[in-house]
Amino acid sequence: MSQIIYNLAKNGIWHQDIPFLGSPVPLSYPEQRKSKFYHLGKWNTFIEPLLPFDDFSTRDFMEIGCNAGLFLFEAHRLGFKTVYGIEADKDFYKQLEFCVKTSNAKNIRISQRHIGLPEPNVDIEGSSEMSAEDLRVVDVTLLSNLTYWLYEKDLLCLLETLSTKSLYIIVVTDNDVAQMSLGDFWYLLKCFSSHWTFLQSKIHAPEDDPTPRNMTSMLFQSKHLVERNIEEVEEDMLFGVGVNGCDNFCFYKTFSQLVCIELFGNGMSSESSAYFRFMMSRAKNRDPKKGLFTKTEILTYINMWKRYIIDIKNNGLKEPLELMQDIITKRELVDGGHRMVTLEQLGYSRVICKDKRNN
Ligand SMILES: C[S@@+](CC[C@H](N)C(=O)[O-])C[C@H]1O[C@@H](n2cnc3c(N)ncnc32)[C@H](O)[C@@H]1O
Repeated sequence: MSQIIYNLAKNGIWHQDIPFLGSPVPLSYPEQRKSKFYHLGKWNTFIEPLLPFDDFSTRDFMEIGCNAGLFLFEAHRLGFKTVYGIEADKDFYKQLEFCVKTSNAKNIRISQRHIGLPEPNVDIEGSSEMSAEDLRVVDVTLLSNLTYWLYEKDLLCLLETLSTKSLYIIVVTDNDVAQMSLGDFWYLLKCFSSHWTFLQSKIHAPEDDPTPRNMTSMLFQSKHLVERNIEEVEEDMLFGVGVNGCDNFCFYKTFSQLVCIELFGNGMSSESSAYFRFMMSRAKNRDPKKGLFTKTEILTYINMWKRYIIDIKNNGLKEPLELMQDIITKRELVDGGHRMVTLEQLGYSRVICKDKRNN
């Protein structure tokens, strides 16, 4: 084991102190292990106290620039439902892969991606540029000592994309990274302000610390996303007028059954599902001027949903649901019934929605 750890060290050292590997990893400054500003000390002082949840079991966590994954393991330990890690650098990604495999944590998903144009010392061999498509909908994203590695236009673009994918962001920054202006607290607040609301921050006095830093962490909430309780959304869907005017009760029951079979059953042909019968009956009652659906089209549609259900189970949602408002009754309407039903069967009690009430 210690030989593997030694071989995985980038330039002879590990950037993160991963405690569960058996023997301590070689660090360039071992005294950082006792600091509030590095490794677990950074998590305990600057990150965990800002997590805005009481119960983590229905929440998803993502870190961009996660290095060997120390904070992913901390999020896993707290009980987050799914934990996503993104790392650009080839050598750090190897460490991350090794640590995830060694940890046996089943709910950690990792990918090698880079944001924009990385610094020359980040070796992006094997990495592809991250797009909005790659990002899943999560409750909180951590950008820890990453923002000052990014060019301004890449940071602004990332902040805009994340505001439609992540309910909250925690950003940790080192105010003394003077050569890179993006380390500056006020500069960051300005960058965030178009899409994010500042909620709170943590600043810690560096007295009596073996390796002090001028560090700040901040919690922001997206201006474009809101969360809703699944039960309330479901009630609206069942007894209200559907966004697309279909028989919501029948849709809900039959699609729930399809999701259940796909997730927990041992397979059933699409044609023998109640959802297929429901879709066939809708096709029969459809206005012929709008064009009729054929049986083959309906089967293709159902098979597409079956693949989507498994993708949501393995990787989470690609897009949030959409929250709208009926202009006459002022009632809230949520579009995305298929996704909502799938999340409910997966044990989620809340859904994240893009707030389109003023559009
Ligand atoms: C200073 S380290 C911080 C690691 C960890 N977040 C922490 O706080 O301990 C920055 C990390 O971001 C990664 N990184 C740098 N530029 C990146 C980019 N453009 N896209 C994705 N990751 C990047 C680096 O490879 C490195 O692992």
